[in-house]
Amino acid sequence: MRDLVAQTVVTPANLVLPLFVKPGKNSSKPVNSMPGVSQLTPDLVVKELKRAQKAGIKAFLLFGVTPADKKDDVGTHALNPDNEVCTAVKRAKDAGIEMVAISDLCFCEYTSHGHCGVLHEDQRVVVDNDETLEGLAAQAVNHARAGFDVIAPSGMMDNTVAVVRAALDEEGFSDTAILSYAVKYASSFYGPFREAAESAPGFGDRKGYQMDFRNGREALIEAALDEAQGADMLMVKPGMPYLDVLARLRDATDLPLAAYQVSGEYAMLKAAAKNGWLDGEKAMRESIYAFRRAGADMILTYAATDLAEAARGGII
Ligand code: PBG
Repeated sequence: MRDLVAQTVVTPANLVLPLFVKPGKNSSKPVNSMPGVSQLTPDLVVKELKRAQKAGIKAFLLFGVTPADKKDDVGTHALNPDNEVCTAVKRAKDAGIEMVAISDLCFCEYTSHGHCGVLHEDQRVVVDNDETLEGLAAQAVNHARAGFDVIAPSGMMDNTVAVVRAALDEEGFSDTAILSYAVKYASSFYGPFREAAESAPGFGDRKGYQMDFRNGREALIEAALDEAQGADMLMVKPGMPYLDVLARLRDATDLPLAAYQVSGEYAMLKAAAKNGWLDGEKAMRESIYAFRRAGADMILTYAATDLAEAARGGII
């Protein structure tokens, strides 16, 4: 009877699998702080996507791991059509993977200083918003050309959605959608990700462009700006510490909403499970339901394939 009256359902179709792509062939490197997650070469990304697709997952998001010698202060490698993420998405499409391909649009994976854009000469400002926008537009077109279906700007530069939308349309990619990381907090919960993507800022922090965790209403302003600029979907990130924000946004917009269970949230659950302090599978499932109950249409989680396999493609 409880199933008959259950008010929330999650299926594998609601989940998005993030993966880290490193250069090379047939090699993987485990991320210590994220048990079960590895940096993968493009061929192994395809293998992992086949496993996810078979389990019923319908979307993936790629992050590039750029070798140190390819990083520079403006993130030139982000515009290379043969970089890690572009190569991996081409391989996936060639291999017949029929999943929605989402690209993370940011410079922090490509800059030597690890910040999300071009640094302003006046160090008090840190990142030059408007100069970075030009680079983001070019990077978005590079991703669309490589075959990404959805571009997900995650750098929190003002006006990104408008600029990226215009650039995509101009280059003939009017069907490429934008999933904006509209509400992204400057969070300690990204810690393990920075090991995974090798993208920790070399100095300073991201408080100049990411949001202050003391602010809830500001999220609604950020989201409304991105909606007005043409975002097709909006994201709240991190997930679990910001469920209030997600629920408020659900009331404020009719756009599809995504919640990101970030690296630190995943790491906490895995660590507690490893110690026998939590039932890992149950706690993971419960957290995924929390996002959905709070109003998320889709949930980005490193556990996507495991959850789908455990559910045998049915209800999570
Ligand atoms: C890039 C980006 C980050 C994450 C997603 N995209 C790192 C950051 O902003 O520092 C974090 C994802 C995670 O922690 O799982 N800007």
